Amino acid sequence: MIQPAPDRVYILDTTLRDGEQAPGATLTSDQKLEIAHALARLGVDGIEAGFPAASPDDHEAVRRIATEVGAAPTPGRPQAEPPAIVGLARAAKGDIDAAWSAVRDAAHPRIHVFLATSDLHMRHKLKMTRDEVLARAGEMVAYARGLGAEVQFSPEDGSRSDPTFLHQVLQAVVRAGATILNIPDTVGYAVPHEYAQLIASIRAAVPSSAIISVHCHDDLGLACANSLAGVAAGARQAEVTINGIGERAGNCSLEELVMALRTRRDAFRCDTAIDATQLCRLSRQVSRSTGFPVPPNKAVVGENAFAHESGIHQHGVLQHRETYEIMKPEDVGARATQLVLGKHSGRHAFAARLVELGTPLDGDALDRAFGRFKALAERKKEIRDPDLVALAADEVARAPALWELVALQVGCGTVGMPTATVKLKGPDGATVVRAAVGAGPIDAAFKAIDELVGAGVALEELAVQAVTEGTDALGEVGVRVRDGVDGTGTAAVDQAAVDLYDPYDRASKRRVFHGHAADGDIVVASVKAYLEAVNRVIGQRDVRPGGGAIEAAS
Ligand code: KIV
Ligand code: ZN
Repeated sequence: MIQPAPDRVYILDTTLRDGEQAPGATLTSDQKLEIAHALARLGVDGIEAGFPAASPDDHEAVRRIATEVGAAPTPGRPQAEPPAIVGLARAAKGDIDAAWSAVRDAAHPRIHVFLATSDLHMRHKLKMTRDEVLARAGEMVAYARGLGAEVQFSPEDGSRSDPTFLHQVLQAVVRAGATILNIPDTVGYAVPHEYAQLIASIRAAVPSSAIISVHCHDDLGLACANSLAGVAAGARQAEVTINGIGERAGNCSLEELVMALRTRRDAFRCDTAIDATQLCRLSRQVSRSTGFPVPPNKAVVGENAFAHESGIHQHGVLQHRETYEIMKPEDVGARATQLVLGKHSGRHAFAARLVELGTPLDGDALDRAFGRFKALAERKKEIRDPDLVALAADEVARAPALWELVALQVGCGTVGMPTATVKLKGPDGATVVRAAVGAGPIDAAFKAIDELVGAGVALEELAVQAVTEGTDALGEVGVRVRDGVDGTGTAAVDQAAVDLYDPYDRASKRRVFHGHAADGDIVVASVKAYLEAVNRVIGQRDVRPGGGAIEAAS
């Protein structure tokens, strides 16, 4: 169990829970596990691994993380304590039981119970009185504690709750066994001085043994400022996500909070246990897995975070780095893009460079990526780190390969109609071919795929970008598709939880899927990315028991 320490801020990463709630950020169970391992290596104190009652898939992902990441010493940090593994639960027995059965095998299992305390939420959403909420919060925390877990409690919409009532609820849950009090600014409404006052008032109202945690959303771009204000006021845990992904505008970003505390230790007088040199690598990993690009101007991990364009700045940095740099690029694992490998490089050097870049591959995936690297090196003068990362990311099996591209031929130009002929191998191993016309070659190819697969998806977004400069650059394509087929079914629903609160429209969030691919030919990359997204849609339909009734309920 974590203990309050005057100069230590504990990091509870919620990329896999609140982060994954970002529309379209659906992660597979394997991706979640990879990210959880990387978070453990980064040195987070806890991983909120998911919302086990939301679906059997979520439950299984949390359970795997609890057993494979939370129970053992971390590879690469063998002496380190494994992080706490946290399962989210509404204040309902069914949710708490699901969370406990998912996290119980971790060395440090934690259940995170939440219940709204603002009048707005209680009246319009929960339809409960203050007395009922007070009683329910204490009762459910005691129930969770009775199972043997460490219990964290969140008064949802805490920043818009009446402080006196909020204090009463927090005192009640501490009496019932909660040791961590997480104070969500659920809708990103707070401003720093106000949030700091709230945290200070809670500090004074509850026993000093309770750890106060900040959880801030970024609707007004204040998530990091509010979290820091909370830390300055005495909070000793921060709930954050990699790249700040999360509901709507997202959460406080881990890398910003960690580097603000470290760079301005003089101001905050506390620090985390994070190994910041892994930040850029993990940021890229999460970006690739979720399909959410990192904006170039993103603080700490953006491509331009350490780029000095103007002559005056360049001159200043060359004379004395600190004139324009408050952090060193190497402190956060950012390094200048280098010319690293060429057509004479061997498989071993290629594999080792991928490990350094945080995109390790082995087995068949390594062989395929190496083959593609050699082919690329034949026609492209310079192979740079982003090319390697794009190739490696492309080879990581991220969606069930139900439908595979066998061949593609397109005709386009100013004369005639853009046409695409697509040959696919289906789940039964048989190949099928279809030709279609469209507004352009990509449109034509997608139409041919739609006719062959009949998945019933709608394209929401297609983003094409060159990985490096030059006309011989690799093209990277990201697509988002919406599953047009609603699940209906008969899976059992925890009615108490449904009556209590339907917190997130997970059913609709779950219906947006992304795909990603890289290739020297952007039409080929687009087709591969589209197929990956389509495969994800079909894959989740196959594994969703009862057609998604559990998800629709949570
Ligand atoms: O933002 C929020 O209120 C939450 C709670 C579930 C902690 O994410
Ligand atoms: Zn949240």
